[in-house]
Amino acid sequence: MSRPYYIAGNWKMHKTRSEAAELAKALTAQLKDGKHRYLIAPGFTLIETVAPIIAGSNIRLGAQNCAPEEQGAHTGEVSVLQLKDLGVRTIILGHSERRHVYKEDDALINKKVTLALRHGFEVILCIGELLEEREAGRAEAVCETQTVKGLEGVAAADLDRVVLAYEPVWAIGTGKTATPEDADGIHAYVRKVVAGLYGDAAAGDMIIQYGGSVKPDNAAQLMSKENVDGALVGGAALKADTFVPIAKFG
Ligand code: 13P
Repeated sequence: MSRPYYIAGNWKMHKTRSEAAELAKALTAQLKDGKHRYLIAPGFTLIETVAPIIAGSNIRLGAQNCAPEEQGAHTGEVSVLQLKDLGVRTIILGHSERRHVYKEDDALINKKVTLALRHGFEVILCIGELLEEREAGRAEAVCETQTVKGLEGVAAADLDRVVLAYEPVWAIGTGKTATPEDADGIHAYVRKVVAGLYGDAAAGDMIIQYGGSVKPDNAAQLMSKENVDGALVGGAALKADTFVPIAKFG
């Protein structure tokens, strides 16, 4: 079992095209000698600008969401076909902002996961509990449900294109990070859930990122934990000065 570290930047709804181009150029140059796996997920309108800049580099191109259908009357949505056309290789799905602000439920997220996998994408499936769920002792149960329902119908053969990202909602954009021990505990639990579904070998190979206020000064500690295989970074992904040290930790 040897899992690569996988560091992803989720740019959320930030940046114009010129700002995105500038950051993508800086990251391409500064991560050239980085030894982990990398991804950036710019907003939809920035993808076409960023794609040629990172083409041929060690940074994968990601998107932050997709529609649950291939095409059709879905005003305001973006399809897997359109993302494929732009060279996107990975789609982040089930982000807590999608779940809690835009009310996406596990069934909808699962539809997106299976559609994206069917179209050859890698999927980063986000899971994570709310503060009140953690305080009620339900963090593991919530993450288990989101994992099991998110992966429903996913064939074992496609599992190597699934990455999980544990993002406790209370840690996102708040400056509060889960302790490395807390993160490792949930990751280990979720890995056991995956083992129950797909067996030990597949679970052992599964990359589980941690997300929620990952910064240059806490990245190495988080990733020193056995079950923490990378990071999904929000705020600190918006500047090369903060993303590069995270991406080059260790
Ligand atoms: P922050 O790093 O800003 O807490 O965001 C984490 C996140 O939601 C990444 O998807």
